[in-house]
Amino acid sequence: MSNKNSELHHLHVTAKAAAARAHAPYSRFKVGAALVTDAGELITGCNVENVSYGLSNCAERTAIFTAVAQGIDLSKVKQVVIYTPSDQVYSPCGACRQVMAEFFHPHTEVISTCDTGQQSWTVESLLPNAFHFDIEKYRV
Ligand code: THU
Repeated sequence: MSNKNSELHHLHVTAKAAAARAHAPYSRFKVGAALVTDAGELITGCNVENVSYGLSNCAERTAIFTAVAQGIDLSKVKQVVIYTPSDQVYSPCGACRQVMAEFFHPHTEVISTCDTGQQSWTVESLLPNAFHFDIEKYRV
């Protein structure tokens, strides 16, 4: 296995382990995510659902919010690996794409894995023309 493949395999296994910690009693779809920075820092997340369904949080956003809380510089995130327990690859939801656009470099690689395959994108390709707003310009 090449270095790149073994690193990706490790991130896939890490995201899958995070998925096992998901709180998903409503959808029963346990998702995991793993972020790795250039410096090798590794942060994971899982989906956390709520009986008031709209309050549920995806695995990707849990990982991103955890990284923020831990003081990780998200512009240094090299890869985001997602795991969904299925035989088809799922791409991140719109809310997660907008949150990724807020924190990650547009060229950050997002790789979705499942039990049978994988697919990768850049943050920019997942959400072209993302909404960005310089609040300082509009302050009165
Ligand atoms: N979910 C994620 O955690 N990440 C995704 O990329 C897609 C969907 C979660 C949200 C919800 O808890 C469950 O999967 C079913 O939609």
